[in-house]
Amino acid sequence: MIETTGLRKSYRKKTSRKSGESPTVDAVRGIDLSVSAGEIYGFLGPNGAGKTTTLRMLATLIRPDGGRAGIAGADLFTDPAGVRRRIGYVAQGGGTTDTVSAREELVLQARMYGAAKARAVQAAEGALKAFDLADFGDRPCATYSGGQRRRVDIALGVIHEPRVLFLDEPTVGLDPASRAYVWEEIRRLRTEGMTVVVTTHYLDEADALCDRVAIVDHGQVVAEGTPEALKREISGDVVLVGLEPGEGVAKRAAEVLRPQPYLHRLEVQGEDGLRLYLEDGAAAIPQLLRALDGAGVTPGTVRLQRPSLDDVFLARTGRSLQQS
Ligand SMILES: Nc1ncnc2c1ncn2[C@@H]1O[C@H](COP(=O)(O)OP(=O)(O)OP(=O)(O)O)[C@@H](O)[C@H]1O
Ligand SMILES: [Mg+2]
Repeated sequence: MIETTGLRKSYRKKTSRKSGESPTVDAVRGIDLSVSAGEIYGFLGPNGAGKTTTLRMLATLIRPDGGRAGIAGADLFTDPAGVRRRIGYVAQGGGTTDTVSAREELVLQARMYGAAKARAVQAAEGALKAFDLADFGDRPCATYSGGQRRRVDIALGVIHEPRVLFLDEPTVGLDPASRAYVWEEIRRLRTEGMTVVVTTHYLDEADALCDRVAIVDHGQVVAEGTPEALKREISGDVVLVGLEPGEGVAKRAAEVLRPQPYLHRLEVQGEDGLRLYLEDGAAAIPQLLRALDGAGVTPGTVRLQRPSLDDVFLARTGRSLQQS
């Protein structure tokens, strides 16, 4: 449904200097994608990774500097109008108007896509039902909760029944219950055969919602696959050790633990944290406690967890997504 190779985009930075060339930001530095019909495909990455830029290129809103891309059978470069007809796009932050009701927005949107009045009214009615908006759909959008507003945004994005829907950060700022509700709506669209591309910087969202995930950093895909396969790359368990604060404790603990045979990898986190990768965490914890004790280092907390997408990000970039 979506195929891209080498898609890239640089922005020129505004500079106050009058002379000289203006510096550029390489926002997207060659992205290859292959998204199948009926998938929920996620871009996961930190702020500034290039997620929105990629989505806006695919949605024909900005012109790529290079590469190739086809969406639902239309070429992005030679037939952007064809692409536009086949897609829906919901921007980061949405696009509802405070004074207008959801029903009015939906009718207007359907008419903008060429539906006759009666057909547009009918489509709006259908969308109010499908997205569970009927209770409040005749009030102005300003009176909606964040979650309700987000559902209206998504309903607006699919009123013309596109083949592909692009959603930029669909659940940012929502409480857990509203997020779960939006996820359900997205899954429902998948069962109707729609292909959905979402961007997110939430690890749990990428994990729970997406069939496949591209982890992006500095404008490039650093890992790609199903959340399960990505996490399987990080074999074994993760043990997080929080140390009692003290001069150089993390460094000392790292020196003691690095030679331990059961350890795959060790990352120092901040002044007093360690992140250990090992095969069998439960079995290794007593040994690593003994080793720390022998070196006079006191662990305050020890936590065992399964690898997360953050561990994949860390393994590929050397940084934690939660800290960047
Ligand atoms: N119009 C613009 N002019 C100049 N630089 C831009 C412009 N839009 C984006 N950038 C830069 O391009 C890079 C990628 O931005 P982008 O918005 O695609 O990131 P993102 O992954 O969507 O981030 P976020 O998670 O914060 O939404 C950033 O360094 C950003 O500052
Ligand atoms: Mg963005």
